[in-house]
Amino acid sequence: MPASNSSKILKPLPPSPSLESMSLLLLFFLFSFILHAPPTTYATSVVHGYGDKQVFDLKKFRWTQQQTDTLNCFHQRSRTEKSATILELHHRDFCSEPISDWNQILQKHILSDQIRVNSLQSRIKTRFSNGFNQQLSQAEIPLTSGAKLDTLNYIVTVGLGGRNLTVIVDTGSDLTWVQCQPCSSCYNQQEPLFNPSESLSYKSVLCKSTTCENLEDATGSSGVCGINSSSCNYYLSYGDGSYTRGDLATDNLVLGATPVKGFVFGCGRVNDGLFGGVSGLMGLGRSALSVISQSYNVFGGIFSYCLPSVTDSGPGSLILGGETSVYKNSTPISYTNLISNPMMSTFYFLNLTGVSIGGVSLQDPSFGKRDILIDSGTVITRLFPSVYNVVKSEFLKQFSGFPKAPAFSILDTCFDLSGYEEVDIPTIKLHFGKEAELEVDVTGVLYFVKADATQVCLALAGLSDEDEIGIIGNYQQKNTRVVYNTKDSTLGFAKEKCSSD
Ligand SMILES: *[C@@H]1O[C@H](CO)[C@@H](O)[C@H](O)[C@H]1NC(C)=O
Ligand SMILES: *[C@@H]1O[C@H](CO)[C@@H](O)[C@H](O)[C@H]1NC(C)=O
Ligand SMILES: *[C@@H]1O[C@H](CO)[C@@H](O)[C@H](O)[C@H]1NC(C)=O
Repeated sequence: MPASNSSKILKPLPPSPSLESMSLLLLFFLFSFILHAPPTTYATSVVHGYGDKQVFDLKKFRWTQQQTDTLNCFHQRSRTEKSATILELHHRDFCSEPISDWNQILQKHILSDQIRVNSLQSRIKTRFSNGFNQQLSQAEIPLTSGAKLDTLNYIVTVGLGGRNLTVIVDTGSDLTWVQCQPCSSCYNQQEPLFNPSESLSYKSVLCKSTTCENLEDATGSSGVCGINSSSCNYYLSYGDGSYTRGDLATDNLVLGATPVKGFVFGCGRVNDGLFGGVSGLMGLGRSALSVISQSYNVFGGIFSYCLPSVTDSGPGSLILGGETSVYKNSTPISYTNLISNPMMSTFYFLNLTGVSIGGVSLQDPSFGKRDILIDSGTVITRLFPSVYNVVKSEFLKQFSGFPKAPAFSILDTCFDLSGYEEVDIPTIKLHFGKEAELEVDVTGVLYFVKADATQVCLALAGLSDEDEIGIIGNYQQKNTRVVYNTKDSTLGFAKEKCSSD
């Protein structure tokens, strides 16, 4: 076609072309441009408003003198704006002891991330192959001390039974639980333990009740009658060695200023895993026991979050209710459908229809065919192996000329950026059905394995085989308003600067 013919046609032209031949030449170029078919692997690259690259300021991300403000660590604030309840959301590292070894923290996140992903994969596989009635297979997951639930990074403060409690938020599970007195085995937490006897509104859930039966959906194992035969005992394992065991109860939950009366939660008497020292966990999944289902009458099954970077000192937010005018999004919200999967009713699945790097749309046979999970607790996005390979090669093509650095754990595309102040990095967009897209924030493209930037990696990984489920991790959701609408079964993305400090 035209491209190869052009030189042949150009040669016969006179050295000083007439006006006529000039316009012919121009016409020819125009036509050859229009007719020129794009190479098979790429669609035409469209330059979007932002341009194909974004400037990334490395100075901000050298974590050498990062300060952590322990004052703000617990008691995240909350407020009500219009009909929305806004809970401040912090990254857990922001609340830990002053960090002396950032390299260790950064590397630990990646190592424990693989444990979380393995545990999600095995929960999903167990449900697919054996149906609902199987216990979680725990044998497959290595127990790694110190890594348990380490990737569930975001915390909020809620009221329960007249107290304030700081809990981790998790969209990958349903049951909310807190450590409870009397406790047979509790890990150390910063706030005093929840004491049922101090709350007049606290009630035990009976084991012969629908609530107790709902446990199976929410936790994968059914409730059992306790020693006193009337209580409903639960057991919830996260598959990474962390677990909670106790009895189901109800009490008044207060989200911001909004009460949720008779909220069902787990009073954990034997718990292990949450090394962040928080009081428990709040499940934002899709089944009947999740806080979203239980507050349906108040918030209509809609919530959204905006996850800040660790380097942001200000908080992000978890917003309950469908009042979109309180969001601070800078682009319109683009919605896609949540894919229902009756076998995995807890999880939020999306239809990944494409990926583009620097405006170049990549092709892969899996697009539009394989569901991908969106999760607040996984750090690094896991792509199907074939997708990851095309993403990696296009990224390397566009982000070239930088010294290579060794791979680290699941991250295999690494650079030594120690000599640079700032770099231009190609934008990464994930596309979903109905024209929705997640444009990965510039802080979500590269992961610092070493705080001094001598080892900085593309913050994406491939799954180990094509049968596993892809996951959109929280590192790629930063500075994005992610709106979950369980009523309409949709999910939306918009750009937002989460921390307005
Ligand atoms: C809980 O925190 C709120 C502020 O977010 C405060 O107004 C309230 O007094 C606290 N309640 C208790 C019981 O400490
Ligand atoms: C069982 O009942 C006894 C007496 O009512 C009570 O003291 C005990 O705390 C109960 N145990 C549990 C696990 O609820
Ligand atoms: C996912 O998107 C593709 C392409 O738009 C479409 O053909 C397919 O039906 C969608 N799958 C689901 C489950 O919605």
